[in-house]
Amino acid sequence: MSKYIMAEQNARTITGEDKIFGVNKRAQEMIQKVGRDKVANATVGSLLDDQGNLVVLSSVIEVLKGLGPVDFAEYAPIAGTPAFLDAAVRAVFLDDIPDGSISAVATPGGTGAIRNAIQNYSKRGDAVMTSDWYWSPYKTIAEELERTIETYPIFDEDNRFHHTAFTSKMNALLAQQDRLVIIINTPAHNPTGYSLTLEDWDHVLSAIRDAATDKAKKIVLLVDVAYLDFAGDPKEYREFLPKLVDLPENALALIAFSMSKSFTVYGMRGGALICLSPNKAITEEFKLVNSFSNRGTWSNGNRSAMVALSRIYAEPALLDHVVHERQRALDILLRRGRTFTAAAEQAGLDICPYDSGFFVIANCSDPDGVSEELFKEGIFTVPFDGRGLRISIASISEAWCAVIPGKIVEAIRRKEAVK
Ligand SMILES: Cc1ncc(COP(=O)(O)O)c(C=O)c1O
Repeated sequence: MSKYIMAEQNARTITGEDKIFGVNKRAQEMIQKVGRDKVANATVGSLLDDQGNLVVLSSVIEVLKGLGPVDFAEYAPIAGTPAFLDAAVRAVFLDDIPDGSISAVATPGGTGAIRNAIQNYSKRGDAVMTSDWYWSPYKTIAEELERTIETYPIFDEDNRFHHTAFTSKMNALLAQQDRLVIIINTPAHNPTGYSLTLEDWDHVLSAIRDAATDKAKKIVLLVDVAYLDFAGDPKEYREFLPKLVDLPENALALIAFSMSKSFTVYGMRGGALICLSPNKAITEEFKLVNSFSNRGTWSNGNRSAMVALSRIYAEPALLDHVVHERQRALDILLRRGRTFTAAAEQAGLDICPYDSGFFVIANCSDPDGVSEELFKEGIFTVPFDGRGLRISIASISEAWCAVIPGKIVEAIRRKEAVK
């Protein structure tokens, strides 16, 4: 019997209050009681300055302020404005836009892009594959569309990308179904901070090429690049992109682009799904099916976000300004990452291999108990997947990054001592 009164469950596991939201609420309550400087709220998935304020690129806000009423009020085309789609492709590829066919459709953020990719390249009942540590909305989106998520362990015993687990999971799923959407979030993976190396990419793509020798199978590789501009050197972290272009005809690379972090406009819902294929029939089909999905869900996207991005890419001086301002924000994050990982090493804290990004995962067997211990010291982290604590270094100061690893180790020891 359904537990719902009027609603239908439709194969979804719908829990109550979101865990992250719950911990965040407790952190806010403590801030009210004891003051901001005594609390580390490491739950927030946005970049905050050391005073806990959202880091906002003023250069982007100035562009938004300069838009006219029509830029806000008018509908955008269902697939997005052509200037926005060009800008989105440039934002991902910079000046190295691959030759051959490339197509894009606007979506509300990266979330919309992921949703459309799953909807259009898998069937109801299919499994969608991603790594065992993953951004939990993947599961929400999959369930919403009546798909499931299947995972492979992302790290082997040496804490490297688990190439063989990737390959065997993909092959096992392809033995059960003829289509497979594979989501890889890199660079600066949420929640571990891992970035696939070029060698990792070679393994992944060669496994996909091997699997695609069976022409009855269709493989879609969705690369979620939500943190592409918050990983490090922009060119270096885009070196993998050219590898995605020459896949076999029954394999397809898609990219989920998001303006949320790169342009600090989380609430504006700017994003796009980008399709890379030399086969014009495939990119045209991509445009058709994704426009249909747009029409049948949110209709059209936020025109003002689209116009803002188009303006930034139309004016080199503006783009330069945004890139420089973003670099200053990135430097804050990179410093926090270095401080946290150095302190983790010194304290002997076991963390997932962190390269860059907003989050670090500390491995522990009792994350709920340990996080409760940490609450007592004003440290708010998110228990994750029953085997780790997710610490948002994006939302805490460098000073907290220096002390939290030691505090986690102490909390783990205290919990173990009472067992
Ligand atoms: C891994 C990952 N992918 C995609 C997104 C998409 O974000 P948005 O829909 O705001 O673009 C996020 C945002 O937190 C994320 O962490």
